[in-house]
Amino acid sequence: MPDITFITADGTAHGFEAPPGVSLMQAATGFGVPGILADCGGSASCGTCHVIVDAAWADRLPAPEPIERMVLETTAVPATPTSRLACQVRLTDALQGLVLHLPERQV
Ligand code: FES
Repeated sequence: MPDITFITADGTAHGFEAPPGVSLMQAATGFGVPGILADCGGSASCGTCHVIVDAAWADRLPAPEPIERMVLETTAVPATPTSRLACQVRLTDALQGLVLHLPERQV
């Protein structure tokens, strides 16, 4: 199972193992990471699962689909070039060690 780490806006790291196939949103909410609201349940419509992929990992994730890019334009904290919707990225073994940062707020 890949290790992933979410770093909240206050710098607290939340690291754990999660099974391949789950979305980053499912992994984060399942492990109680604070700061992921996921109001729409993962349908890429609310933008409250905004995460910022660590620069070291930015090129290793598949590119976002157009709907994800559109929702990223509506996030509470403006998206960065490495921002993603956590519900739209599935964990794979290739993402072993993935590091994500959380924005200061989701709404
Ligand atoms: S959970 Fe709503 S956009 Fe990801």
